[in-house]
Amino acid sequence: MAGARVVVDHVSRAYGRALVLDDVSFAVEPGELVALTGPSGSGKTTLLQLIGSLDRPTRGSIHVDDVSVAELSHPVGFRRATVGFVFQLHYLLPALSAQQNVELPLVAARMPRRERAERAAELLAEVDLADRARALPADLSGGERQRVAIARALAGHPRLILADEPTGSLDSTASRKVWELLRSVRLRRGTTVLIASHDATLVEHADRAVHLVDGRIVPPVERQLAPGRVA
Ligand SMILES: Nc1ncnc2c1ncn2[C@@H]1O[C@H](COP(=O)(O)OP(=O)(O)OP(=O)(O)O)[C@@H](O)[C@H]1O
Ligand SMILES: [Mg+2]
Repeated sequence: MAGARVVVDHVSRAYGRALVLDDVSFAVEPGELVALTGPSGSGKTTLLQLIGSLDRPTRGSIHVDDVSVAELSHPVGFRRATVGFVFQLHYLLPALSAQQNVELPLVAARMPRRERAERAAELLAEVDLADRARALPADLSGGERQRVAIARALAGHPRLILADEPTGSLDSTASRKVWELLRSVRLRRGTTVLIASHDATLVEHADRAVHLVDGRIVPPVERQLAPGRVA
């Protein structure tokens, strides 16, 4: 299944008087892996939430393929069919095993129990955790939990993965593994992947970076000229 194309067109988001995103425009091509970088508070999470239809822009439009995301009256169906979210805090349910956590979206999609279990086992194998299927989140390492969260995000065959600081709480080895996993998902499935990240050493795994400062996109050329700032 091909990845989704994302077009963000003159998008602004204000909270009261604070303009958190200011006239942001960019496009992500199907199957691209793009790092969304920028200092804390620059608007990365806000932008991912707008693209994933968890929030609406104050101005401008967002398209994911031919869907005008901000105009959806029932975004849940769109999210389920198209988007896989991975958050900094993995949001796994603590009382459920790794396998049961991965099965959750399949329960929501009313997949029969046997098929669900098989599919979840395949997904866990895909993130190299076949042997940890029965473990509870508390008994997994941070990196393992994040990989379970990625397996869960993949369960619905999303054409777009939105990952918000998926390696924010991990050491460099575990972070690298998560990035490599997202890269391999992109390669094998053609999924479009957008990752918000502070980690300048990892964004080189991306096809390119979109850099936000104070809610605006900073062009690469200015970035190179800015002294002391790592893109
Ligand atoms: N619901 C809200 N109400 C008011 N202000 C908000 C709200 N959500 C975010 N903001 C503000 O918008 C700005 C951008 O926040 P956002 O979470 O998008 O930044 P970020 O780039 O993801 O930062 P970080 O790297 O720390 O995660 C911040 O100044 C934040 O305080
Ligand atoms: Mg954030």
